[in-house]
Amino acid sequence: MPVVTNVEDLRQIARRKIPRAFFEFVDHGSYDQITLGANREELKAIRFRQKVLIDADNRSLSTTMLGEKVSMPVAIAPTGLTGLIHGDGEILGARAAEAAGVRFCLSTMSICSIEDVRAATKAPFWFQLYVFRDRGFSESVIERAKAAGCTALFLTVDLPMRGQRHCDIKNGLTVPPRLTARNAIDVASKPAWALGVLMGKRKSFGNVDVYLKNKRGIWAAGKWGADNFDASLSWDDVNWIRKLWPHKLVIKGVLDVEDARRAADMGADGIVVSNHGGRQLDGAPATINVLPRIAEAVGERIEVLMDGGVRSGQDVLKALALGAKGCLIGRAFLYGLGAMGEAGVAKTLSLIAEELKVSMSLTGVRAIEDITRDILFDYGEDRRRNI
Ligand SMILES: Cc1cc2nc3c(=O)[nH]c(=O)nc-3n(C[C@H](O)[C@H](O)[C@H](O)COP(=O)(O)O)c2cc1C
Repeated sequence: MPVVTNVEDLRQIARRKIPRAFFEFVDHGSYDQITLGANREELKAIRFRQKVLIDADNRSLSTTMLGEKVSMPVAIAPTGLTGLIHGDGEILGARAAEAAGVRFCLSTMSICSIEDVRAATKAPFWFQLYVFRDRGFSESVIERAKAAGCTALFLTVDLPMRGQRHCDIKNGLTVPPRLTARNAIDVASKPAWALGVLMGKRKSFGNVDVYLKNKRGIWAAGKWGADNFDASLSWDDVNWIRKLWPHKLVIKGVLDVEDARRAADMGADGIVVSNHGGRQLDGAPATINVLPRIAEAVGERIEVLMDGGVRSGQDVLKALALGAKGCLIGRAFLYGLGAMGEAGVAKTLSLIAEELKVSMSLTGVRAIEDITRDILFDYGEDRRRNI
């Protein structure tokens, strides 16, 4: 059993365990990966203000997200194709989240379906919606999410068309796939991964398959998704979805103050400040940089969540200090899953919880609700003088 001290350790294990095409699908970003890098760099650049002799005992991480009690202000982000990173990946992720007392958000483009995840867990989970040109799909999938008791719908709005990831093209991870000798050798050298995926409940996009009532396989369902993506999605559609969904509605993929205000005006309950983990508009700002002004503009009216580059409890604490009510983790979840399945996701969550607790103690805050910008180090004049 390797010694795992942080999420980066899980990333390194995942890199060894899963085929390169799938690891890079998770790890990389779009185009020149400027935004992907910025998400991490800008989080790293923030410094805490250390406080001492403040009775660092008994820190509590429990709080609420979207009005639901959670053990810490972290949830698992929706990620497509997760059942190919590890067999039954979505079920394992949802189970680990349930055990840790945090929420799991299932992607429209998941491998395991809404019903699969519902059958495998008891806790409420959230559902993420991509709107396709075939509006019947959205209506039916929303009904299925309601029937499964999902408590929040995350409408992803930053993907009217897909940003290009060079690695996916080079690795043949395209629709249709390009099978190369290198891929075949790579897959053959990862038998544990292959067996896990083969033994998994599903091998195609579960939610789409159920809707299309067919078993034509992952590439047919993937092609349907690619052909059906609706680039004309607009604010009017938010109205339509708001009418269909009676529970919490969250707009995911907001980076602009005006858009955040509009989301609040249209009756959204929350937004996720997100650049899709640097997978869409390359050159968009790091989420941590736009978070403060968005939180200031709408944080009193709706819940502001953030994702992008969050790999540790320290990152979560920084986001909370700058106005987020909670964070979503995408890659940190997938690295844990790829490394060790359910135990790996549990490890990611426990690492983040422990890091968050220690960092809260060292910055002198007792409870999540006490976290303010005051815990961040202010360089003031020094930065301008380059000290
Ligand atoms: C492999 C992968 C697949 C993703 N698929 C989806 C998806 O299906 N729907 C969605 O709204 N966001 C998707 N995202 C974006 C995540 O929900 C989240 O915004 C992003 O991963 C956060 O950045 P992080 O990975 O640095 O934590 C995906 C991200 C990754 C890494």
